[in-house]
Amino acid sequence: MRRVTVPLADRPYDVVVGSGSIAALPDLVPSSAQRVAVVTQPGIPAQFREVGAFLPDFDVEVFEIGVGERAKTLTTIEALTTSFARMGLTRNDVIVGVGGGMVTDVAGFAAASWHRGIPVVHVSTSLLGMVDAAIGGKTGVNLAAGKNLVGAFWQPSGVVCDLDALASLPPREMRCGLGEMAKYHFLTGDDLLAMELEERIARCIEIKAEVVASDEREGGRRALLNYGHTLAHALEIATDHELAHGEAVAIGLIYAAELGFELGRIDRARVDQHVAVVAGEYDLMTRPPSGLGVDELVGLMHRDKKALHGLTFVLDGADGVEVVQRVDEAPVRAALARFLG
Ligand code: GLY
Repeated sequence: MRRVTVPLADRPYDVVVGSGSIAALPDLVPSSAQRVAVVTQPGIPAQFREVGAFLPDFDVEVFEIGVGERAKTLTTIEALTTSFARMGLTRNDVIVGVGGGMVTDVAGFAAASWHRGIPVVHVSTSLLGMVDAAIGGKTGVNLAAGKNLVGAFWQPSGVVCDLDALASLPPREMRCGLGEMAKYHFLTGDDLLAMELEERIARCIEIKAEVVASDEREGGRRALLNYGHTLAHALEIATDHELAHGEAVAIGLIYAAELGFELGRIDRARVDQHVAVVAGEYDLMTRPPSGLGVDELVGLMHRDKKALHGLTFVLDGADGVEVVQRVDEAPVRAALARFLG
């Protein structure tokens, strides 16, 4: 078992990683708490959904929310917080989010809003959650107008990443986690390929923790964590979410490398390294499905949340990965046309 600290200056917190790490949950619950509101979902393995068994000294109530992006709404937040009112949850108490990224985003936003903010601990049960969603305090819900448009930065008091949860993870969800994990191969010079799974997950968390601590509210550097995401978000929308987020990120990483090559920032060998990680190590798709057009994807990339000043990409280069604004449309189109074949 490993502990990684997210080193926020005034609110550092621990992420406990390893098989059986759910046993560390009571250590992460603030000492002020008497009541625990567990937010979870049908389909989460029973030993995690029933986390009350690890919290015998607390009054625990379990609330299940719906499955899928359609349940990630303000209506769900209203139902949860109405239940919190009924159970008498106070500011001294705690919410425990048990599930994948959707659950921890919702539980985190409910925690940020209830009584203007109460502690939350996340028990992440998906690979994507462990290496990304549960770490760093991004919380929120969707509107009809778009994903995660209403939310808050609300850091957890601790996070459990119990690898036993991955044993029953559906293959597609595992692929999505691998897509997010692949990006970490390019954010530092670390040889993640040489690490076994627990160490690799812990290292991804450590990389994210360092970036988050340097720019908690994404004023700049935190956007590095969106490597591969500019095209990925466009692909998710263009395919009406037939491509799941992590699958789209895997493809987006290869495109970001191709664009880096087109712009003369990296050589072909570095592009090949991207392919070796995404397709070789993780066996993920490296090209979008057929039928997508350059105009449509460029239009969608202009609408990316990062695009404050023209087309914006996170790009690899001689000094590592960086956020690049005002990228000319011509090379974006050229790389995309080649990429779509
Ligand atoms: N998922 C990227 C971030 O947390 O900033």
